[in-house]
Amino acid sequence: MLDDIDFATRYRQHLAASGRRHKPASAWDARAQELGAKPLASPYAEAFIARMDLSGSRTLLDVGCGPGTIGLLLAHRLERVFGLDHSPAMLEQLMRRAEALGVDNVTPIHRAWEENWDDVPRCDLVVASRAGLVDDLEDALDKLNRHARQRVYLTQLAGGHFIDPEIDELLGRPRIGLPDHIYALNLLHARGIHATLDYIETPSRLAGARDADAFVARAARMLGELSQEEASRLRAWYEADPERGQRAGAPLRWALLAWKSPTD
Ligand SMILES: C[S@@+](CC[C@H](N)C(=O)[O-])C[C@H]1O[C@@H](n2cnc3c(N)ncnc32)[C@H](O)[C@@H]1O
Repeated sequence: MLDDIDFATRYRQHLAASGRRHKPASAWDARAQELGAKPLASPYAEAFIARMDLSGSRTLLDVGCGPGTIGLLLAHRLERVFGLDHSPAMLEQLMRRAEALGVDNVTPIHRAWEENWDDVPRCDLVVASRAGLVDDLEDALDKLNRHARQRVYLTQLAGGHFIDPEIDELLGRPRIGLPDHIYALNLLHARGIHATLDYIETPSRLAGARDADAFVARAARMLGELSQEEASRLRAWYEADPERGQRAGAPLRWALLAWKSPTD
């Protein structure tokens, strides 16, 4: 029976098996300037927001807000936006960008998923965009539910790979993917919550290399040093089908789970 499966434990086991280490706030601090310099509007953020229902909503809690990817784009349509993140540098970027946009209804909350949220405001809408790879998924979902009055939107990596696993296999470095949205879907189901599921595709992080050499250089930046043998395998893979090479194989696919707050 499905109900006999302990998805919270399975999630933790899968996360451990994937070898992913907990990324401290300092690691995100180090990326804040780079992420904060990206244009606010992006195909991903626009696709995310297009799938949101804002009717009757006045407040938003953006969990793992980073430099404000979702919350800032919605600030002019809402009364107040709270951006919650454990990285002080991300929150600085959030506020710097809010000021540049001329919006004064954004409030930063310096907090981690793992901390106590008793004083975090309940909002009409709660989003957690690309920030849902938590250690304790059950606790995270409970927090999202407790803090949403109307609706919750959560994206998680579908399939668990940031780059096409075919490339890892080509390099003889197969890896276990990260736990994906299936765990959250099942944990919600066990709570009687029937989330809707949609997908947002974005180009692979290795996409866009204009030729095989550029592709190899990108792969080395992302995957670490490559031997000559590995580099030539990648070059051959790119050259066998340059169109596929430019796409770097399969796109990144984000699963968007949306549900009504159980307290609505
Ligand atoms: C990939 S970024 C996503 C940013 C933004 N939501 C987006 O979709 O572009 C992940 C964000 O989650 C934050 N984050 C990661 N682990 C966290 C934790 N345990 N508690 C709070 N925030 C966390 C990071 O600091 C970072 O800003």
